[in-house]
Amino acid sequence: MKPFSKMNCMGLAFAGMLMASCADSPTAVADYQVVPMPLEITAASQGSFLLKSGETICYTAGNEKMKKNAEFLAAFIKEQTGIALKVAEGDGEEGIVLRLGLEAGSPEAYRLKVDGRKVEISAPSEAGVFYGIQTLRKSVSVHEGAGAVELPAVEINDSPRFGYRGMMLDVGRHMFSMDEIKTYIDMLALHHINRFHWHLSEDQGWRIEIKKYPRLTEIGSRRSETVIGRNSGRYDGKPYGGFYTQEQAREIVAYAAERYITVIPEIDLPGHMQAALAAYPELGCTGGPYEVWRMWGISDNVLCAGNDKTIRFIKDVLAEIIDIFPSEYIHVGGDECPKVKWETCPKCQARIKALGIKGDSKHSKEEYLQSYVIHEAEKFLTENGRSMIGWDEILEGGLAPNATVMSWRGEAGGIEAARQQHNVIMTPNTYLYFDYYQAKDTDSEPLAIGGYLPMERVYSYEPMPSALSPEEQKFITGVQANLWTEYIPTMAQAQYMVLPRMAALCETQWSAPEKKQDYQGFLKRTARLTRIYQLKGWNYATHIFDVNVHIAPNTETGKLDVTAGTIDDAPVYYTLDGTEPTTASSRYENGLTIDAACVLRMMAVRPEGNSRITRDSIAFSKSTAKPVTLLQPVNKPYEFKGATTLVDGMTGDRNYKTGRWIAFYKNDMEAVIDLKEATEISSMTLRTCVEKGDWTFDTRGITVEVSDDNKTFKKVASEAYPAMKETDANRIYTHTLTFDPVKTRYVKVTALSEKNIPAWHGGKGNPGFLFVDEIVLN
Ligand code: ACM
Ligand code: ZN
Repeated sequence: MKPFSKMNCMGLAFAGMLMASCADSPTAVADYQVVPMPLEITAASQGSFLLKSGETICYTAGNEKMKKNAEFLAAFIKEQTGIALKVAEGDGEEGIVLRLGLEAGSPEAYRLKVDGRKVEISAPSEAGVFYGIQTLRKSVSVHEGAGAVELPAVEINDSPRFGYRGMMLDVGRHMFSMDEIKTYIDMLALHHINRFHWHLSEDQGWRIEIKKYPRLTEIGSRRSETVIGRNSGRYDGKPYGGFYTQEQAREIVAYAAERYITVIPEIDLPGHMQAALAAYPELGCTGGPYEVWRMWGISDNVLCAGNDKTIRFIKDVLAEIIDIFPSEYIHVGGDECPKVKWETCPKCQARIKALGIKGDSKHSKEEYLQSYVIHEAEKFLTENGRSMIGWDEILEGGLAPNATVMSWRGEAGGIEAARQQHNVIMTPNTYLYFDYYQAKDTDSEPLAIGGYLPMERVYSYEPMPSALSPEEQKFITGVQANLWTEYIPTMAQAQYMVLPRMAALCETQWSAPEKKQDYQGFLKRTARLTRIYQLKGWNYATHIFDVNVHIAPNTETGKLDVTAGTIDDAPVYYTLDGTEPTTASSRYENGLTIDAACVLRMMAVRPEGNSRITRDSIAFSKSTAKPVTLLQPVNKPYEFKGATTLVDGMTGDRNYKTGRWIAFYKNDMEAVIDLKEATEISSMTLRTCVEKGDWTFDTRGITVEVSDDNKTFKKVASEAYPAMKETDANRIYTHTLTFDPVKTRYVKVTALSEKNIPAWHGGKGNPGFLFVDEIVLN
């Protein structure tokens, strides 16, 4: 099975499909606990509305948008239940009524009121009615063949936390058909998302027709082939390309608008422009020739900021973009623009001179030159009644006057921009980059860019930085997640990466923070939501249905304590010998204790199908589950469970962000393990994870010392290692130090971190990270 293939029927267990009696067909009961969680749900003490075929949805007479809303609701209910509702103009006192006129703080607010006679969705705007419809649709859920659905009497008053609720799709690296883009928009609509950020240009492909520059699509939309994997140096030999005509883009704009979604186009400039340079090489500093890039990364070939033609090109392209896209906000990128070509380009240097730009301690003169380009783009947009968004690099060299900043490199850029009184969209890669892995066991996942963002971490994201004052917080106007598609060639895989993490995103965007405190409740609601994903044929990831395994060293007993759970208390079976569990295997009841090496595998069993099978390899040594104390701190962002990680019997893979590794930065690892009684040892093994591009290096030296009183230590082994060379591999390094057998109670292991990154590296002179996963004593 491909890792991202659909799990059959996995959501069915969570249908909440309570059957009540009805004349001849079963009746299902709606559940208003949906995603995103509404602000206020007040159940009425009695009564319910029976939703059944033949009922009419009335909408405001003469209002085409309301008519469309009514048609949406009828179509959703038909698709999810088979119940056929009629649609008619009017404002009835019975049946299903869609109505404007509600007074509320947000135009997107709505009220959903159900009693014995009526289901009424009212809102200040058609958009609000649409969100009420989405909530009703999710409350009803999927009940194929249900004769009717009982809607218990209720009043729901709901309103979004953020006005900007975005989701980005990169179509530069891989593109998707018109139907697939529409499906993606349907996915956003189901999650109350109201901005589709469409990333339309990249080094690897230009995807939008620009009539004044036809070669952008004739040449810039096609690459001759694509690198295999993560820049392996091997290529697939297959031409790749395509673009959206202006007419098609307008069709997407209209399709999104019917669903109250604004399409925000992005033309990424002045970097990420190699495909445009392949089409118009005179816009680059060297004049080329350039090719549409066949590999991933950040190309040094960027627009020449010293060429007047470049500025004209930017304005011409933006002129056509604003003609296609009515969005107030237009995204001009601004991220990841290397300055190496500008540093030696006579035209760029002449521009720097002409503008009187000087470098200073904060920014180089080339960074100020980028700021000039972005200011020119903003001036053009402002003159044309639009507003500019850029990635947080647009802070470097000074923000353009009305720029909105998209904070992606963590939250620091957003905090800085809010302090400068600029609007901010929070989209930190550390929480909201859905191209990152969602599971620890990356071997069972489709190849991804890296990272580790499981559902729980996405859900934990709080976008209001506490570092900002209440006044400054007002500038945090939105939240967005991004899907970059280097490693995502198909819509099925795109869906696997974003669903159901989009459910966690939308609660952060929509729900009040006090409604976002119950992760287990959220998982149950998300499980119900996956029934709609399944009905729609969307390829969602099923990790939330897996057994949630916790393995913790118990320093009292010297064993490992295992606890396991599922979101629905499904029965769990396990093996300890690495084989796949079946229902004939041991059944997990109330915790397990592990005191020997094993491979623990766990599976949840449900009528609709088994979950994926977890796998945890556990080694046992003399240090496993012994008390450990760190004499120097762990680096906060990579602290996870802290010191006990070093004695939990488990090792990590090369993804050092999963919690199996902890990091030391600017100081060393200095760990004292208490063997609890005099114990003979003669070796110490320590592993480090090296990823030099991430400033993560091997240790420079290890010392092992022993002591009987935890005061006076005696060195028994020591090794020094040279600084890493550029040619040294990125991999896990295993260091074993052996020594004459010694009986001891306390063992101190010191591993020195790199304090001075070598000169061949971009981070030269800075400290590096030291990642360690386990200290093994034998
Ligand atoms: C980005 O991820 N380069 C905005
Ligand atoms: Zn130049």
